[in-house]
Amino acid sequence: MQTLSVNLDDRSYPIHIGSQILCDSDRLSGLLSLAIKGKQVALFTNSLVNNLYGSAVYQALSGYSVDVFEMGDGEAHKSLDTYNQAINFLMEKRHNRTTCLIALGGGVVGDLTGFVAATYQRGVDFIQIPTTLLAQVDSSVGGKTAVNHSRGKNMIGAFHQPKKVVIDIDCLSSLPTRQYAAGLAEVVKYGIIADAKFFAFLEEHRQGLMDKDEQILAQIIMRSCEIKSEVVAADEKESGVRAVLNYGHTFAHAIENLTGYGEWLHGEAVSIGMVMATDFSERSYLLPQGARLRVERLLEDLGLPIALREPLSAEKMLQAMGMDKKTTDGQLRLVVADAIGEARITGDFDADLLKAVLSEYCE
Ligand code: NAD
Ligand code: GLY
Repeated sequence: MQTLSVNLDDRSYPIHIGSQILCDSDRLSGLLSLAIKGKQVALFTNSLVNNLYGSAVYQALSGYSVDVFEMGDGEAHKSLDTYNQAINFLMEKRHNRTTCLIALGGGVVGDLTGFVAATYQRGVDFIQIPTTLLAQVDSSVGGKTAVNHSRGKNMIGAFHQPKKVVIDIDCLSSLPTRQYAAGLAEVVKYGIIADAKFFAFLEEHRQGLMDKDEQILAQIIMRSCEIKSEVVAADEKESGVRAVLNYGHTFAHAIENLTGYGEWLHGEAVSIGMVMATDFSERSYLLPQGARLRVERLLEDLGLPIALREPLSAEKMLQAMGMDKKTTDGQLRLVVADAIGEARITGDFDADLLKAVLSEYCE
């Protein structure tokens, strides 16, 4: 098992990454108990993940009073309704401020649990045990918590860092291929925004990635968490550099919004969005010719979409992109790449070129 730290002064926390963690009750118990200060624990999960891994976590918590909150599965349940049910549940079970919530599941469970933890009795502790690749490399780290509003995704949320993240790579063996690929999109993102060598490593190990080779998985999860931790440590509340973690996401959020959150998984929309962002960067800035092709090939080889299936209105795309949380004083800002391994946020771009790129990809 390897451990790295997210360095945020008194909010610093460890990320443990390894295999055979959940099946080793003593080891898991040792890891969890170090981060739980009281006797009460609420395990947040959904029925699918609970059936797969719930009993392993429950067993490791034998010294605690544990209540299990099972929420519905899917993005639709990352909602104020579920939030309300969770608060009722904690109150009914008389959880006090020393309680610790544990999120066992993908990003939906993690984001909802984190937001409940951020707000219940003005804030309680929580631990992340992410079970999807996307949650292991992205959503469980960094303290962004949220629920959705009918008018927009993640519109109600808070920054609230977990006390610990425990990543068991073995959870990925039960993950459906499409969900696994969606997580790989975020892994590719780290290569594009921060580490050219890592991008080349992914290119070299495409087959190992498709085969879920355990050693390669351990390396890519570790490197992804390292990059995310460094960015978060530099800019916890996204006043600047953290925005680079949203490479391709302004396009992706608009695609998800216009296609109704059902057609594409988040990681799939990010894959298409990164192709658009890379093409736009290649045509606008110094990104060398050929970068888009490399990005496209890698994403495609990893089983990800690189284009829309049905046309969308470019005009509506542009409007939906304006809803992005990075928009400041009505000015759309985009994350662009200057090289593979280097990205930045800018409001200074050619709006006509953006429209042209959107027309090409959408219509
Ligand atoms: P998800 O949580 O919906 O999980 C995907 C599916 O896989 C679900 O059906 C889930 O029940 C199932 N599942 C989970 N673990 C499994 C396993 N080991 N084996 C089999 N099935 C399993 O989706 P996700 O992709 O993990 O997360 C998406 C969410 O994450 C979105 O709401 C997105 O907004 C959020 N997100 C948050 C951040 C952040 O920084 N907080 C970053 C990226 C994404
Ligand atoms: N997923 C983007 C962030 O955590 O900032």
